[in-house]
Amino acid sequence: MLPRPSTPSGSPNRDSSQLLYGNRFSRAMKLSAFFEEDRLAVDAALERLLPAESTPPSSIHTAMRYSVFAGGKRMRPILCLEAARIFSSDITPALHPACALEFIHTYSLIHDDLPALDNDDLRRGKPTCHKKFGEALAILAGDALLTLAFEIIGATPVAAERRVAVLAEIAAAAGTINGMVGGQVADIEAERKSVDAQMLEYIHRSKTAALIRASVTAGALCAGASPEDVARLRRFGETIGWAFQVTDDILDVEESSAALGKTAGKDLAQQKATYPAVYGLERSHQIASDLANKAIAELSPFADRSSRLREIAEFLVLRRT
Ligand code: IPE
Ligand code: IPE
Ligand code: MG
Ligand code: MG
Ligand code: MG
Repeated sequence: MLPRPSTPSGSPNRDSSQLLYGNRFSRAMKLSAFFEEDRLAVDAALERLLPAESTPPSSIHTAMRYSVFAGGKRMRPILCLEAARIFSSDITPALHPACALEFIHTYSLIHDDLPALDNDDLRRGKPTCHKKFGEALAILAGDALLTLAFEIIGATPVAAERRVAVLAEIAAAAGTINGMVGGQVADIEAERKSVDAQMLEYIHRSKTAALIRASVTAGALCAGASPEDVARLRRFGETIGWAFQVTDDILDVEESSAALGKTAGKDLAQQKATYPAVYGLERSHQIASDLANKAIAELSPFADRSSRLREIAEFLVLRRT
């Protein structure tokens, strides 16, 4: 079972599991070396795939690079690469969807921060894209990252039917029907309203879990996984993605803006539909932990081959940033 942090960080009553995992991603979390290796591989590929700042129109490429390299955890690409590694020692084809997913995720953050949505000034420890470059360029940088993502998926060096399957998984996850955009619509329409458990689940599974699910299935598809294994990993990804957003809601309450690199306490201020708002903090921790354990149970047929995915799943709910 996962250790469950039960009190906010900084509390003198923190349990030893929380101390083990620490309260800063880079400082205290005991992460295996593969996280850093994957992150470096992803960053190098992102660097290659993004147009240089000097390429005209320079302003948009500067804005795209600013947000992509502002300092994200790269969890979606890491999930994609490690899902691929279960089925193949050559994970280089999976770098394509891995980077595409980070571009789509970064676009979603740029747009999420816009004044018309969450109206945030701080992202990944830096001024948000629209604060730095203005709203027009921020909107267009998001559009451009989304478009670039599909150009890159189209060039994934795997058999055509697998490439199309990867494209379909990611497009659906980013879209309006149980996908990221649909979830973002429900999220902003739920502000200042009392939502029931069913709507809360819909919001979290759509706005966040869908893309995390696609990260895992895209990696598996690139590496030749069978339909049964892809289906199993789809369940894993969906469930850990849901736990990830419950944890994001918890951190918004429990952590500081400095720790998160984004404005803490925003959900309460904007009366967002969150797990702590509906269930309270204690129960939200339990829900995140239960979901992570349920996700990890899906990995059991893969045995040792899935130990990295299991470790990532544990990190996703025990992280403090
Ligand atoms: C933040 O995602 C937005 C959510 C979907 C909860 P991350 O916590 O993965 O953000 P970065 O990529 O590390 O900045
Ligand atoms: C955003 O959820 C999910 C996205 C699809 C971007 P939040 O609005 O809670 O994400 P943060 O807390 O701003 O990163
Ligand atoms: Mg939001
Ligand atoms: Mg937000
Ligand atoms: Mg949040």
